[in-house]
Amino acid sequence: MTAFDPDKEIPGHIAIIMDGNGRWAAARGLPRRDGHRAGADSVEEVLRACGDLGVKYLTLYAFSSENWKRPQAEITALMGLLAHFLKEKTPVLMKNNIRLRVIGHLERLPMRNQKQLRESMAVTAGNDGLTLVVALSYGSREEIVDAARALMIEAKAGITDPATLDNETFARHLYTADFPDPDLLIRTSGECRVSNFLLWQISYAEIVITEVFWPDFRRPHLEDAIGEYQRRHRRFGGL
Ligand code: IPE
Ligand code: IPE
Ligand code: MG
Repeated sequence: MTAFDPDKEIPGHIAIIMDGNGRWAAARGLPRRDGHRAGADSVEEVLRACGDLGVKYLTLYAFSSENWKRPQAEITALMGLLAHFLKEKTPVLMKNNIRLRVIGHLERLPMRNQKQLRESMAVTAGNDGLTLVVALSYGSREEIVDAARALMIEAKAGITDPATLDNETFARHLYTADFPDPDLLIRTSGECRVSNFLLWQISYAEIVITEVFWPDFRRPHLEDAIGEYQRRHRRFGGL
């Protein structure tokens, strides 16, 4: 455990791979969906803590492009939980001045979820506290290919000149164009992999992996991860 210092730099953007819901449930002899349901409480606590600490952006990996491979019953349960969460928590987002944004192929989600997400985004659009970015049907390789496709179309139309394409122009074509890159990437449940999450954007993020399963992740775990971040020396290739 690393002591967290509220007077030191707090990461402006924290991204979290919320993993381990299934194992949390299995350890208790419960169905996987109970793990996902319990994970919603962690989301609420982390949102509150990030707001209190002055974090400006929180990106949560909720459902990957590859998660469509899971059994239909689990997908249905996850989409049901998302609907329930949005219904209950949109007023909480308003009360806490949180703006909701989504990255990923929203149009692949069930209509009900799409509609609700669009409504919550519209209602919270004017909030200027924390920005909560939820990655849904999100895959980083797809995102990069989508950006490349958009740029090729622009090049063909003469809007973008391939000769002058640079990192900044490319990044403006990613789903995350409006957000800064994550400073801190946290993955729960001990897996040491990125699983197609923000491959471009995490180039210089500090990575913290915790053994805790997502449904057990609470404010002290977040503060530990921030403490670990504060102890790191970011060099960005310099000295
Ligand atoms: C993360 O938990 C939630 C999603 C991927 C939707 P998992 O469902 O991956 O849980 P484990 O990794 O099987 O324990
Ligand atoms: C990554 O977790 C996706 C989310 C947390 C939403 P997975 O559980 O899908 O990743 P893998 O399959 O272990 O790499
Ligand atoms: Mg997993």
